Amino acid sequence: MPLRLATFSDLDAISKILAASFYNEELNDRIFPYRKQFPDDYVFVWKQKVIKSWWDYNKIWVVSYDKDPAQKSGEVITGTAEWAREGKGSDRLWGLVRWWDPRRLVSPSIGIFYTFYRLLIPNRAVPVSSLSDPNPLNKWNFARRIEPFSARFFTDPPSRANHWELSTLAVDPAYQRRGIGQELVAWGLERARRDSLPAVVIGAKGTEPFYQRCGFLHIVGNVSTAEIDDDDDCKKVARLDKTNPLKLRGITGGSVLWTHLADEDGKQ
Ligand SMILES: CC(C)(COP(=O)(O)OP(=O)(O)OC[C@H]1O[C@@H](n2cnc3c(N)ncnc32)[C@H](O)[C@@H]1OP(=O)(O)O)[C@@H](O)C(=O)NCCC(=O)NCCS
Repeated sequence: MPLRLATFSDLDAISKILAASFYNEELNDRIFPYRKQFPDDYVFVWKQKVIKSWWDYNKIWVVSYDKDPAQKSGEVITGTAEWAREGKGSDRLWGLVRWWDPRRLVSPSIGIFYTFYRLLIPNRAVPVSSLSDPNPLNKWNFARRIEPFSARFFTDPPSRANHWELSTLAVDPAYQRRGIGQELVAWGLERARRDSLPAVVIGAKGTEPFYQRCGFLHIVGNVSTAEIDDDDDCKKVARLDKTNPLKLRGITGGSVLWTHLADEDGKQ
């Protein structure tokens, strides 16, 4: 199935594919416990993520599509991948001048806008504080709270900081098992190969065989069981997360898979 770069008008379809394909993922029971009761709110969270990320100039959204004469555009989006370029050189990905290019402010500004939006109009699909879980994980605090536990898999040795990352991958459930997922992965691995860089992905539960088949050969650890053993990392941890918040909630996915292993000199 053909692939192309996503356009702004694809974002609605992308959000719906993410919402549908991740619907039964183990993490969703924690971060979207009320998705059944409030399906529109659930999709809206994905849309917020996609729109914010669309304006992140370190990222590239790719879509797969099929011909569909019934659609106004003549095609239907069948799958999507969000690829991120991290480290040295990532500030030039979309022809931005440098790190100080004002266009870099768009994505954080959208994040601030949605923060205020949520305060005014609370999203009903996400968890609320309770006695058993006073600080629940949700889609907005997730990356920030997991980062201290996952950082070492991305920066140790330091040469690893320079890489391509598959941040999101999803295929419409109606189109799965037709090779689309592998094609979307191959697109980014080819970019990484052209840049002579390794690529990394954090896999959802049970996806390790799929990713290894695609070329992410090496499992170097698991974010959901990682502990913090370094004093500097400890300082970075939000005070509420002394223990890994995934481990605490019994979430088991999160294998970190690289295409290449770093050698002892720190080269990939
Ligand atoms: C994972 C996903 C992207 C794979 O996309 P896909 O288009 O169905 O994958 P492909 O057709 O290219 O898969 C090829 C092979 O990978 C394996 N595979 C695919 N999905 C798998 C999964 N979820 N778990 C384990 N193996 C899987 C299968 O062996 C398949 O070969 P088969 O047809 O002989 O069984 C898709 O299942 C999906 O969107 N899942 C929900 C969202 C998700 O988990 N995304 C990844 C988060 S890190």
